[in-house]
Amino acid sequence: MLEIEISGLRLRNPTMLASGVMGECSGSLIRAYRSGAGAVVTKSIGLEPREGYPNPTAVEIECGILNSMGLPNPGIDEFGEEMREVVELEIPVIGSIFAGDAESFSILAKRMQGYGACAIELNLSCPHARGYGLEIGTDPDLVRGIVKEVKRSVSIPVFSKISANVADIVEIGKAVEEGGGDGIVAINSVKAMKIDLSTKKPILFNRFGGYSGRGIKPIGVRCVYELASEIEIPIIGAGGVEKGEDAIEYILAGAKAVQVGSAIFYRGIDVFRKICKEMEEWMERNGYSSIEDFRGLALK
Ligand code: DHB
Repeated sequence: MLEIEISGLRLRNPTMLASGVMGECSGSLIRAYRSGAGAVVTKSIGLEPREGYPNPTAVEIECGILNSMGLPNPGIDEFGEEMREVVELEIPVIGSIFAGDAESFSILAKRMQGYGACAIELNLSCPHARGYGLEIGTDPDLVRGIVKEVKRSVSIPVFSKISANVADIVEIGKAVEEGGGDGIVAINSVKAMKIDLSTKKPILFNRFGGYSGRGIKPIGVRCVYELASEIEIPIIGAGGVEKGEDAIEYILAGAKAVQVGSAIFYRGIDVFRKICKEMEEWMERNGYSSIEDFRGLALK
């Protein structure tokens, strides 16, 4: 009932573990899949190991979570070992990568493909890292060039995770499409800040962070709706998916799949199974037997 096909990938259901949440080691990727995720996305991996920022790196705020981890990761050379254990179990794993230029993205994508990733997710939207993410993901020419170069380097699908922190998200989505991208993930966490009233200073070490969870769902749904209205390639909705009904909302806006991150904090790792059950119940009540039966209905 929940099975989907996206850019040639067949998934048992449309929920994916979002990047950055439990995606840094094989054990937690496997656990997310065993808890019902249709696919899992790794933490964003770069060319070199990175420590990330000192604490505080995350804080719970109204309607969600604010984080700025600083792209901590073991580097692509080390990450092969984590990938091996997941791939051996035939778990669909999407390799998220970050870099500052097209050439580095291509090198990382090739390595991820070599490790057995079923697809690549380009992080073009980390809201606070100097020289990475949003700093390149807001420029349509850079985005088009990066996607084009990565597409030349690998044969697996290439998804681009983009940000709502732009004047016109459709312009960025079109750049991904023109570059030959296979899909868009929308949205990443939203650039935000929390100030501590006792110290009178921003709480996070990095001052700015990415806001995720319930509070950003309406922004994500709006972005997916705008993208789906003007773009042909598949869209994966992300931002505040906690319940089956949230996933349904994204699919009504045109998404083919959804990613789940912060909700693990609120509902436990079993959130994937819970969301799927809630989706099936909603579909039964409404007389739908497949995702495609109601996908994009809000657009018509
Ligand atoms: C981090 C945060 C993000 O939202 C992202 O896309 C990548 C990395 C981080 O702080 O590590």
